[in-house]
Amino acid sequence: MIIAANLKMNLKRKDLQHYKETLQTQLSLLNSVDAVIFPNMACLLDSSYFQDIPLTQGAQNAYPAKNGAYTGEIGSEILEELGIRTILIGHSERRELGDNQEFCLAKFTYYQELGFRIFYCIGEPLHIRKKGLSAVMDFLQTQISGIDLHYPSLVIAYEPIWAIGATQPASIEEISATHLNLKNLFRNINPTRDIPLLYGGSVKADNAREISQINGVDGMLIGSGALNPQNFLHIIKETLE
Ligand code: 13P
Repeated sequence: MIIAANLKMNLKRKDLQHYKETLQTQLSLLNSVDAVIFPNMACLLDSSYFQDIPLTQGAQNAYPAKNGAYTGEIGSEILEELGIRTILIGHSERRELGDNQEFCLAKFTYYQELGFRIFYCIGEPLHIRKKGLSAVMDFLQTQISGIDLHYPSLVIAYEPIWAIGATQPASIEEISATHLNLKNLFRNINPTRDIPLLYGGSVKADNAREISQINGVDGMLIGSGALNPQNFLHIIKETLE
């Protein structure tokens, strides 16, 4: 199970230190999953900081270039200096801020070339979900258009936009049907690898177990439910029981 925390624009450096110290108290729990954290971009630390705990640090975003005249962006050079080899691409909050499919694809291709582990996010808005599963699948296909599903370090996160930061996640039936359809789609394109598929959107300690047990769910990408390290640990625990 891949359990990933997307801290978005939350938590300061000091909080991250507390985060690490809390996780340090439960190393065996952490060891039993593939745990990943995407900290606030200004809090990215040298990866050696996490060396003594089984936790991978990833970047929530980056520009598809080594360095250069891209004000406000960060490139691969600085990520590599920090020892970061994992990146989130295509999160709906980034797409909302202007990352269109072409730009997501440019980022994907660039970081694929460098061999990064890519967490690629897809997810439909509510008006598409209201049209039914076939419209959802058509929409999700446009978001994976051009993405190389044969890339061995690819993880996909399905995050319905309407379930992010909501009062509850998508229903078990909705997650189950969408994941099953996505898995079939991926398998048709690449029969040689079962591409890990995460669910994201209002995952909390009290629903993590049920979601993690759905057929076709290989892990979870958690936002607000993972801001508190105790909750993150609690979610991991739930997925193991
Ligand atoms: P929430 O868990 O806060 O709904 O956020 C999900 C998400 O966007 C993770 O990337």
